[in-house]
Amino acid sequence: MHIDKREQLWIIISTITLSAFFAALLIGAVVFGVRLPEPDGFVNPSALHNTPFAEPGIVQVGENDYEVYMTARMWAFTPSQISVPLDSNVTFYITSSDITHGYMIEHHNINIELVPGHVAKASVTFDGLGEFAMLCHEYCGRGHHLMWGTITVFDPEAEPENETAMTTQE
Ligand code: CUA
Repeated sequence: MHIDKREQLWIIISTITLSAFFAALLIGAVVFGVRLPEPDGFVNPSALHNTPFAEPGIVQVGENDYEVYMTARMWAFTPSQISVPLDSNVTFYITSSDITHGYMIEHHNINIELVPGHVAKASVTFDGLGEFAMLCHEYCGRGHHLMWGTITVFDPEAEPENETAMTTQE
């Protein structure tokens, strides 16, 4: 079978390109352990009262460590306001009680999808002072643009009255 020289060239180039992509996938999975995000657990979205999500909020679990249990629904996060001291490590457990939402915190490396029935888990260190928006970034209906809250990172040394304060509001 005769194959034109230029066609041969393109067959070789595309074979090399696909092989390189496949090798990158394999190296990512085997060497660097890259995996698709998986839920940390499962809950019944219509029976959250039987779970830690019955009382959303923040709890201190170590000197600089906190856990946040948060629920998302059309169109709010609960709690919608969180305050944490500077340099705290916060692990978020978030679930949706109705439809798929998203969750991200501006200027921080957290960007997750909230699927009803799934518990999403992500950890963030807050090493800069300020007020940061937390946003739903998956379109979820006509109130999507209203679905946001704030995380305030305060300096515990500068404001002694806040030393033990971890406030949450619904
Ligand atoms: Cu919830 Cu967009």
